[in-house]
Amino acid sequence: MKNVLVTGGAGFIGSNFVHHMLKNHDYNIINIDSLTYAGNLDNLKDVENDSRYTFLKVDIRDREAITEIFEKYDIDTVVNFAAESHVDRSITDPEIFLTTNVIGTQTLLDVAKKFWKVNPDDKYSTEYKEGVKYLQVSTDEVYGALGKTGMFMETTPLSPNSPYSASKASADMVVRAYHETFGMPVNITRCSNNYGPYQFPEKLIPLMINNCKSGKQLPVYGDGMQIRDWLHVSDHCNAIDTVLHKGVIGEIYNIGGNNEKANIEIVKLIIKTLGKDESLIKYVKDRPGHDRRYAIDNTKITTQLGWAPKYTFEQGIAETIQWYLENEEWMDKITSGDYMKYYDNMYKKA
Ligand code: NAD
Ligand code: DAU
Repeated sequence: MKNVLVTGGAGFIGSNFVHHMLKNHDYNIINIDSLTYAGNLDNLKDVENDSRYTFLKVDIRDREAITEIFEKYDIDTVVNFAAESHVDRSITDPEIFLTTNVIGTQTLLDVAKKFWKVNPDDKYSTEYKEGVKYLQVSTDEVYGALGKTGMFMETTPLSPNSPYSASKASADMVVRAYHETFGMPVNITRCSNNYGPYQFPEKLIPLMINNCKSGKQLPVYGDGMQIRDWLHVSDHCNAIDTVLHKGVIGEIYNIGGNNEKANIEIVKLIIKTLGKDESLIKYVKDRPGHDRRYAIDNTKITTQLGWAPKYTFEQGIAETIQWYLENEEWMDKITSGDYMKYYDNMYKKA
């Protein structure tokens, strides 16, 4: 039985991953999350009484608390999802992105190193306990933007454009350095845009579904022709599970499903599925530094580790729209109070 520390497990992908792990493995899952605006324990209601699951409200920058957790739960695996994750918020308030995404990552690595090294006081020793691993959940945004052609490979130079992606790229560099200098057993995964249940409605797909359902305007940035490579969150969780169990130590794996769509196509598909009118679309001011196109080359993970996505986009998006329609209460709870303040600030001048 493994003792897996999942950080940020109350967020979108983290909560899907907690569900995935409890369903597919008999491991202890210790979920730590500081419950920012994006953390929501409602995402985990159905597992809160599972004896293999523990939730602790902890910030990944809190070294003392992380140390206590490693001691008490004998952690042998870390999957780090915890992050400030929204590009638009990183444009208004970059600092928290640096402290959480970079310093938080370094804190986790440092505590893990102390507990996992066979001789923690010997700075030259690179011997680690059997079976331990640190997995950093990163993003394709660290590679920057593509033109009309080409794809991101694991060897593509990092060229982040937003404070968010710069903080994620910095964290990747710290993970790499802990592997190179201290021999830490690590993997980094870099995934494309996720969609699916429990995504916070500041992100394109849940925001558009929610607005469209209630007949509100659909704010499309710039010309709406920016391209994202969409992957269902359960395929992402499966890929992380695969890297955790089969990934070669020190390696980076790109994750994506060859599913490029322009934003405007997605918006029009949501309008059509909900039986609304395209007059709801409102083209607004573009996001500063907006990356034009992302596309992942997934050859390494598919050929070397045997992972492949299960969802087609058509099936995944239909199920996702249905999920948001059936979980109105979940959405209504989030989209009151602070969310409305954020929404007004973000979109009123656009
Ligand atoms: P999210 O914003 O939905 O969730 C982030 C979670 O981290 C929240 O529960 C939040 O409370 C928690 N958190 C934030 N700061 C924390 C801190 N200091 N200490 C502890 N917990 C903290 O994000 P998401 O979309 O689920 O993304 C999860 C991870 O996956 C991120 O690292 C992100 O960079 C990466 N990623 C996301 C996508 C995507 O499309 N959403 C794609 C590729 C990679
Ligand atoms: O590529 C992976 C990344 O995908 C993750 O690392 C990030 O955490 C995640 O937030 C996501 O980043 P994006 O910026 O691509 O996602 P977002 O949902 O914010 O926007 C998707 C596209 O839609 C982007 O081109 C901007 C556009 N957009 C977004 C919003 C919120 C709009 O046109 N209107 C909007 O209101």
